[in-house]
Amino acid sequence: MIFRKNVQLILRRFNHSKIYPSAKDAIDDIKSNQTILVGGFGLCGIPENLIKALNETPEKTGFTMVSNNAGVDNFGLGLLLKTKQIKKMISSYVGENAEFARQYLQGELEVELTPQGTLAERVRAGGAGIPAFYTSTGVGTDVQLGGIPIKYTTDGKEALIKSTPRESRVFNGKRYIMEEAITGDFSLIKAWKGDSFGNLVFRGSARNFNPAMAKAGKICIAEVEEIVPVGTLTPNEIHLPGVYVQRLIKGLNYEKRIEKLTLTKDEDVSKTATSKDDVAAKMRERIVRRAAKEFKNGMYVNLGIGMPMLASNYVDPSITVHLQSENGILGLGPFPKPGLQDPDLINAGKETVTMIPGSSLFSSDDSFAMIRGSHIDLTILGAMEVAQNGDLANWIIPKKMVKGMGGAMDLVSAHKTKVVVTMEHVAKNGRHKILKSCSLPLTGERCVDTIITDLCVFDVDKKRGTLVLKELCEGVTVEDVKKNTGCDFEIDLV
Ligand SMILES: *[C@@H]1O[C@H](CO)[C@@H](O)[C@H](O)[C@H]1NC(C)=O
Ligand SMILES: *[C@@H]1O[C@H](CO)[C@@H](O)[C@H](O)[C@H]1NC(C)=O
Repeated sequence: MIFRKNVQLILRRFNHSKIYPSAKDAIDDIKSNQTILVGGFGLCGIPENLIKALNETPEKTGFTMVSNNAGVDNFGLGLLLKTKQIKKMISSYVGENAEFARQYLQGELEVELTPQGTLAERVRAGGAGIPAFYTSTGVGTDVQLGGIPIKYTTDGKEALIKSTPRESRVFNGKRYIMEEAITGDFSLIKAWKGDSFGNLVFRGSARNFNPAMAKAGKICIAEVEEIVPVGTLTPNEIHLPGVYVQRLIKGLNYEKRIEKLTLTKDEDVSKTATSKDDVAAKMRERIVRRAAKEFKNGMYVNLGIGMPMLASNYVDPSITVHLQSENGILGLGPFPKPGLQDPDLINAGKETVTMIPGSSLFSSDDSFAMIRGSHIDLTILGAMEVAQNGDLANWIIPKKMVKGMGGAMDLVSAHKTKVVVTMEHVAKNGRHKILKSCSLPLTGERCVDTIITDLCVFDVDKKRGTLVLKELCEGVTVEDVKKNTGCDFEIDLV
């Protein structure tokens, strides 16, 4: 018996096929305390089988996991959080996973919150042999200044470990900060199809972080839905050349859970809304309709989750606007009709979406190159606070709410992209949201160009650090705006 097992091992060693019989075999030599890079965005394109296999070896613990999210409470990396196999997460987004937030806020888990584009580029750089790079993302925020809690005390009152300040440098008159590359002992990724050389093809927005993670791990283990004979995938269609993939398995019984099933509804749901909801809905519609006027023919636009995304319902039908989703889609279509949802096609809000003629797909590192490089003309996003000089805060309320910055810091740091904020003029508790200076940690410094609220439209004169009132909503007076705004402003109504 022992002899036969040895023969098998020897055969395996000299078997140049990268194909492993199971997820369990493929992850067998992963050790406690190692750094593991994991592909996926939300629950889209995650290596379900490899994660489950790790979860079935609960004696392996202390992992540092690099992944944009940590799944949800009972799926994806959320499974490994539950079994306390993860010591540290390097991620951009905590939201949608209650256990993730709880472990972080109660000092059980270290979390290095990293802007989504910076995360993608740190990993890309790791795989490309670049030790560090400069980026405008996070300039002037706590990402640059340091002090973002990485580990809290168990009562959640103090930070035991904090992020360190970043070096900064001026290039062509603009400030940038230095970010270091990320590499890992292993990468766990998911693709659609692969061959025994390890060549991979991804599907829909399930590509996301997978190619970058693959390249930055010493050993990349890929799981695929289908293993095809070498030569079946044409050279033109291969997204990730096999040189980056060391092990391949065929995943079993894919669940491919959908996090936020969002469908195009035929009937008008507003009719069933209560009157209180009605007021809020009318206010939102007012903001969203005005925001849609920012769209110009041919623009490339990124819309934030929630109200900004609704603006796409009011695009003037005589113009073409290309909607970008930072998880890797250019040319978003409407939400799918019932039954036509596809777990491999979601937007940055994790909602099911469709593609339209002329759409294209790409990876997260490509997506943020597009964003950081100012190839996107306009970004519309929500805010908790905006200051008169254009400072924006929308990613954290210290000790209370931590969602993470996601891609917002990257989006607002692109020098040539117009940044429009849509929000309610005052908070629900009556507090001012438009202020002399922000009280919450910044998402971006002097980045907002225009603020659209339910009362008015302000332009930000960033050079002088002043707001200019440009438009009043119907029935709203300058006095109303003054009462509801926490700073002075100039008036230049159009
Ligand atoms: C080599 O690996 C492939 C894929 O797992 C398998 O089909 C084949 O039997 C292996 N060959 C040997 C000699 O183990
Ligand atoms: C993992 O780290 C813990 C804590 O530092 C240590 O006690 C343990 O021996 C390490 N395990 C391995 C396999 O390195």
